[in-house]
Amino acid sequence: MVNKLRTFLLNIFKGRNVSPWWILLIDMGIVTNAFILAFVLRLNVQLQTYSVSEMIIKAIWVLTVYLISFLLFGSYRGVIRHSNYHEFKLVIIACFSSFSFLMISDAVSRIAGYNWINVPRLVVIFQFLLTVMLSFVFRMIVKEMYASLTKKSTTTNVYIFGAGEMGQITLEAIRNDKDNQYNVVGFIDDNEFKWNMVLHSIPVFGWDKAVKIGGSKRVDLVIMAINRISVQRKHEIADTCLNKGWKLKVMPSVGNWVNGISNQMQIRDIRIEDILGREEIRLNQLQIMEGLANKMIVVTGAAGSIGSEIVRQLLRFPVQKIVMVDVAESALYDLQQELLLSHTDAPFVAVLGDVTNYHRMKEVFDKYQPDIVFNAAAYKHVPLLEEFPYEAIRVNIGGVKVLANLAVEHKVDKFVMISTDKAVNPTNVMGASKRICEIYIQALSQLKDMHTEFVTTRFGNVLGSNGSVVPLFKKQIEQGGPITVTHKDITRYFMTIPEACQLVLEAGFMGQGGEIFVFDMGDPVKIIDLAKEMVSLSGLKLGEDIDIVFTGLRPGEKLYEELLASKENTLPTHHEKIMIAMVRKYGFESVNQKIGDMIQALDNEDNHVLVGRMKELVPEYKSQNSKFNVLDGQMILK
Ligand SMILES: NC(=O)c1ccc[n+]([C@@H]2O[C@H](COP(=O)([O-])OP(=O)(O)OC[C@H]3O[C@@H](n4cnc5c(N)ncnc54)[C@H](O)[C@@H]3O)[C@@H](O)[C@H]2O)c1
Repeated sequence: MVNKLRTFLLNIFKGRNVSPWWILLIDMGIVTNAFILAFVLRLNVQLQTYSVSEMIIKAIWVLTVYLISFLLFGSYRGVIRHSNYHEFKLVIIACFSSFSFLMISDAVSRIAGYNWINVPRLVVIFQFLLTVMLSFVFRMIVKEMYASLTKKSTTTNVYIFGAGEMGQITLEAIRNDKDNQYNVVGFIDDNEFKWNMVLHSIPVFGWDKAVKIGGSKRVDLVIMAINRISVQRKHEIADTCLNKGWKLKVMPSVGNWVNGISNQMQIRDIRIEDILGREEIRLNQLQIMEGLANKMIVVTGAAGSIGSEIVRQLLRFPVQKIVMVDVAESALYDLQQELLLSHTDAPFVAVLGDVTNYHRMKEVFDKYQPDIVFNAAAYKHVPLLEEFPYEAIRVNIGGVKVLANLAVEHKVDKFVMISTDKAVNPTNVMGASKRICEIYIQALSQLKDMHTEFVTTRFGNVLGSNGSVVPLFKKQIEQGGPITVTHKDITRYFMTIPEACQLVLEAGFMGQGGEIFVFDMGDPVKIIDLAKEMVSLSGLKLGEDIDIVFTGLRPGEKLYEELLASKENTLPTHHEKIMIAMVRKYGFESVNQKIGDMIQALDNEDNHVLVGRMKELVPEYKSQNSKFNVLDGQMILK
């Protein structure tokens, strides 16, 4: 019998959502009952002292007022079993409006002598309170019934880390999911003012207490739902969870939700990027919005890690069009398909083309007349470019020269070039090629009457980008290892892709042009620690399930990357994470001549001569662990 009732109720819940008109009818039933109850209370249960016909007239008046309010505020339109604070707020607003109107009309009616709409004030007050209370109780009963009917027997006990807005959104998403398998047993928060509070019937604990009582609460999983938290704290939480055998998942920030919908599906396994990623960056949205509004924008290297993220971020602003240029056909196609799915009406166009080809790029500039260019097209792999300096010069330097010259010819307002920390005191061909790009851009920007503002942005490694250490380790872990680390002491600075690209946008609209903006990369991370953390997060045991092997530094590879933003070599800006690099500037004529000659010489000179030309342009470029060491200290070109 009980089971039959359960199935019957479940069928009702699982079927189509109940029509809003039924909800309105139930709400009106509540208003009617509240009205009768209010009268009973007002007359001390002696209803007979009141004339029935008079009471019916007043009831019709009161019901009409409430009905109009409900219709105006749409308080009946929500799905009752998913009622939340916002929906209930609408009910309160609708009831309060009716209450206020009835109080005013009562006062007016007394003066004007319309006795039929004259409802005793105490009745109006009681009725308001009772209606709000009964509506709340009705919604809560439906919600709880639904939750208990749909609760799975095999639930996972969960802590939500973060009792702020994100934490509460996560709880809401879990509770509203009809296939929910999570049973939230507590919030955890570092803010001690929240400890011992109860949020949506869930207690809030400090971390130490939560860890202590986690066993008795049979906790299996911690969901991180917090934006503002230090890297160190994330490490501590991850380590404790791993020690305790608790799984760790994450609720991404709203901007990173798949399809932008709040539901339990958004909760995903934690990635190393989540642990290493730092506090979310607060952008000067207004300045960026003004800078991008209605602008025609070219993004080169759009199919790459940085270029594609710049495109995604640009799509959040009301730009006129984004022209996505890349030479990698399949990757560009994939990006196009991704955006067609997620941004159906977005203004973008994909252009297959090589940035080193002046004529192809001129066609693009002629056709689209861009206002802004973001240049992320480049070759970036240190060992490969050490082997093939020809390509570093052809693509990185040649590409920038073509694009920057076209930007000047077409009076583009802004040209933002993406550079790298490897351009600082370069030790390899790749870093040196990027430094030469910076020198060219800066020299160009100093020319008299230059319309285009040239901006360079420099930053360190980006977590998870194509060919970087994180996807490599991930693949090695999936294949059972070993994990290859080049040196036990090697360190790198890391940023997440969105973090880096947000700073690129912010820096793009700072300054007057000619600046090299460098980003605060936080503290360096030992690659061996990164590997160990990734092993732990994957649930494997180092030394038992998987090994780490050291393969030796690769040609051109530094043990420690240069600190980008030290106080000695940078100037501050209004953004705490963006600094201006103090670098030697070069005159345009000689730089242009030397770069032009270098590109001209590409097909006639061997790699040593070409790298010699690079060293002449960048005197601080000293090769490390490379066949080009022999060139240091000796001039091979006049
Ligand atoms: N990934 C990082 O960790 C990182 C960190 C700092 C700076 N950067 C810099 O950002 C830039 C982009 O890096 P990424 O990680 O996005 O690399 P990526 O390889 O993912 O993307 C580069 C894109 O440029 C395209 N490209 C190459 N040559 C081209 C050409 N001739 N014409 C048109 N498109 C061409 C490629 O097809 C690719 O899609 C590089 O200059 C790199 O030095 C990267």
